[in-house]
Amino acid sequence: MPDTKVSLPRDVRGKVAVITGAASGIGEATAKAFADLGITVIGADVDDARGATTFAALGAPHSYRHLDVGSSDEWGALIADVTREFGGVDIVHLNAGVMTRPKTAPLMDDPLAWFTESGFTKVMTVNLKGVALGIIAALESPTLSHIIVTASGAALTPLAMDPLYTMSKYGVLGMCLALEESLAERGVRIDVICPGAIGTAITPPDIQAAVKQESPAFLGNAVAELVTTADHGPVWTAFTEAEGLRRYDVPGGPVSATV
Ligand SMILES: NC(=O)c1ccc[n+]([C@@H]2O[C@H](COP(=O)([O-])OP(=O)(O)OC[C@H]3O[C@@H](n4cnc5c(N)ncnc54)[C@H](O)[C@@H]3O)[C@@H](O)[C@H]2O)c1
Repeated sequence: MPDTKVSLPRDVRGKVAVITGAASGIGEATAKAFADLGITVIGADVDDARGATTFAALGAPHSYRHLDVGSSDEWGALIADVTREFGGVDIVHLNAGVMTRPKTAPLMDDPLAWFTESGFTKVMTVNLKGVALGIIAALESPTLSHIIVTASGAALTPLAMDPLYTMSKYGVLGMCLALEESLAERGVRIDVICPGAIGTAITPPDIQAAVKQESPAFLGNAVAELVTTADHGPVWTAFTEAEGLRRYDVPGGPVSATV
């Protein structure tokens, strides 16, 4: 796995970004890192109380909007509003995500207990449909240039404790790889970031206690590095702070749309 990261920095000052799942964790940390780069951030989430607090702390020109990523109506309204206000959305960070495993489940419990239809619907609606709808909606922005998707290490190595979460992350990675060429033809770059264990609310407390977690700020800074680097993945890992952001070469690659 070569470490080919690096590069010509891109100036992103004055760009407009929408970040989903921005009320907490990786999305919140990315909002802070983007703001430090001079990007205007529109944070979106379903946790409106936390989102409002996070963005009040960030201050103007950044703002918070309610968005359920599983709703195409809400996506359409958000992109239209931001386009009316700012002229368009330049960057979308599709980051909102959920696990199927209940936070209260004991570490050694049977993962088949949450391998259920309701678990499937919950995780696919946010982790898969939410990303697909975000890309469809963002393509309506006249200024879109960069899509970043938070997948997971579970998109590269199956996570036995949550098979449906694993399925959603493998799915999102495959979709992004298949889209790369068509998006590039429209002048839109797509990058997929696969974090390791990060200390956020998504991780059940027993796992937080059992596994070393990296800070959300590490991930926020890695996503900020992605928007400023001219190098293109499209798949990146961010497992440990010591390792940093690394390009990940997916074996094979997609079959071109033109053959
Ligand atoms: N924390 C980790 O160890 C880790 C590792 C790999 C990948 N990830 C991925 O990182 C992303 C961010 O997760 P996090 O770790 O910051 O956890 P988090 O729980 O802190 O953040 C997830 C955010 O998504 C929001 N959300 C949930 N459903 C939503 C919906 N329908 N519409 C809009 N927002 C919604 C939540 O309210 C929350 O604010 C997820 O996609 C997750 O799968 C996390």
